[in-house]
Amino acid sequence: MPWTERQQALLQGMGLKVWSPASTAGPEASTAPATRSEAVEPPLERPAERPVSVVKTPPAPSRRAAGSPVADVAVPVVAAPSAPAGRADGPVATMDWPALRAAVAGCQACALCESRKNTVFGVGNPAAEWMIVGEAPGEQEDKQGEPFVGAAGQLLDAMLKAIGLTRSEADAAHQVFIANTLKCRPPRNRNPLPEELAQCTPYLQRQIALVQPRVLLAMGRFAIQQLLHTEEPVGRLRGKVHEHQGIPVIVTYHPAYLLRQPTEKAKAWQDLLLAVQVYRRSQGG
Ligand code: URA
Repeated sequence: MPWTERQQALLQGMGLKVWSPASTAGPEASTAPATRSEAVEPPLERPAERPVSVVKTPPAPSRRAAGSPVADVAVPVVAAPSAPAGRADGPVATMDWPALRAAVAGCQACALCESRKNTVFGVGNPAAEWMIVGEAPGEQEDKQGEPFVGAAGQLLDAMLKAIGLTRSEADAAHQVFIANTLKCRPPRNRNPLPEELAQCTPYLQRQIALVQPRVLLAMGRFAIQQLLHTEEPVGRLRGKVHEHQGIPVIVTYHPAYLLRQPTEKAKAWQDLLLAVQVYRRSQGG
């Protein structure tokens, strides 16, 4: 079945080459993707206009996306070891959103507070059914106080759009919540240090507990380390459903890595499709 123009546009927005069957193909017909499983409807159809919902919607088996479902495959669920002891059960663990936001804004728990312009709390629907966890703010994020607003953020937005999701205002099924492992920018975008991650962990944990997403998408190794407590490389962890506090976790490459290694985008697309499958399953679909 040939792809619709919309599907092609979405995949091309992610930087994926679009393959068409020979019968309808133009000159680009030879640029086949690695697997045919990429040729599916955008899994989640975004409605034109919906009010923002801050109420967690109960499982709704009838809420299925229009179009072909993603094929069901058996995916092993891998439980993460329990979180290492730390501050995760400290005062942050009982904060509501305003208290948590204020705690992050005033945080001085590590040296990053001295060099930051802004803390980067997170963005999106506080009752989102999808939560994206990235690494740490970069220069633009530090300036604007919002995660993923630079080049990697543009790719992330395209990836989300390809599966019918957005960071912009929408209902909880379509508007994600995006957060980072660190709420402050490491100088010169260096990697987060273990002690910085340890200090910031309770904030991320509390965000997850408050959002209660159906699916967590961990992007890149630091997000994976924080959620799954493993140092295994992304390549070994992808393709499985992991768990963090009972929430399914799908791991994938960080958008900044995909910008450097565009040939890996096809794998990221497969990861997104797996996440959609897990999401649908959580709805009873
Ligand atoms: N990379 C991340 O992981 N997070 C951001 O907010 C920006 C870039």
